[in-house]
Amino acid sequence: MQPTEGKGTAIVTGGARGIGKAIAARLLRDGYAVVIFDLDRDEGMRTAAELSFLGRTEFIEVDVGSEDSVNRGFRKVHADLGPVDALVNNAGISGQFGSPIGYLDMGEWNRILAVNLTSIVLTTKNAFPLFRGGKGAIVNIASTRFLQSEKNTFAYTASKGGIVSLTHALGVSLGPDIRVNCISPGWIDTKGEPLSREDHEQHPAGCVGKPEDIAALAAFLLSGEASFITGQNFIVDGGMTRKMIYAE
Ligand SMILES: NC(=O)c1ccc[n+]([C@@H]2O[C@H](COP(=O)([O-])OP(=O)(O)OC[C@H]3O[C@@H](n4cnc5c(N)ncnc54)[C@H](O)[C@@H]3O)[C@@H](O)[C@H]2O)c1
Repeated sequence: MQPTEGKGTAIVTGGARGIGKAIAARLLRDGYAVVIFDLDRDEGMRTAAELSFLGRTEFIEVDVGSEDSVNRGFRKVHADLGPVDALVNNAGISGQFGSPIGYLDMGEWNRILAVNLTSIVLTTKNAFPLFRGGKGAIVNIASTRFLQSEKNTFAYTASKGGIVSLTHALGVSLGPDIRVNCISPGWIDTKGEPLSREDHEQHPAGCVGKPEDIAALAAFLLSGEASFITGQNFIVDGGMTRKMIYAE
């Protein structure tokens, strides 16, 4: 698909790979110039070069868990591209799942909360004065773990629940000119690892998700067609959270 007419500038955090890379590619195809904020310099530079045939793509090394780094990133966006039209808060880390509560590493807890949740406050604070004509749209990426848990996944789960709530707090506070929505993905195959028939068939939709499934909804939520939607969370999980499971 060739890029369509210009839609302005979108920032995608964690856009160097996985779901963020698919969102960056989709927004470029839709006609945005895309700025990728990522901690991984090598992968970020590679991805920006790889996607640049689709449109203007810039990589800026940013640690979204650091206020100074986010502030610096936005200063560079402003200097290089001027106003901003869309922000996708996708960067996220899970840490090591599995530490029982008594062994929870509070350093790791704080880092996960900083990267997954506080980062959205930092990017939104910075983007707010840069939105073109004061108008824009934001999409946050949470997880179905906002709603259900495996054992001993405290920080990741709490951060994703926080994102869903922060999304409606922002949607209500920044409207009507800035809409803020959230996507909660289920299992999305970002690593290209071999998947079994059972992996796919346990999903009511018949398969594990693809990064492009999330990118398609992000593009819609950022677009004018979603102008009556704000503060919401959308689950994209092939139906897994709608499936009742009893032990055999
Ligand atoms: N893959 C899934 O099944 C799945 C399911 C539910 C939710 N999610 C969420 O979707 C988002 C993307 O997931 P993914 O699977 O594509 O992840 P990924 O690990 O493949 O990619 C994450 C990207 O974020 C970047 N990143 C990490 N920490 C950062 C920081 N401090 N500052 C800037 N960039 C940073 C990484 O370098 C990487 O490029 C995450 O928020 C994740 O929690 C993923």
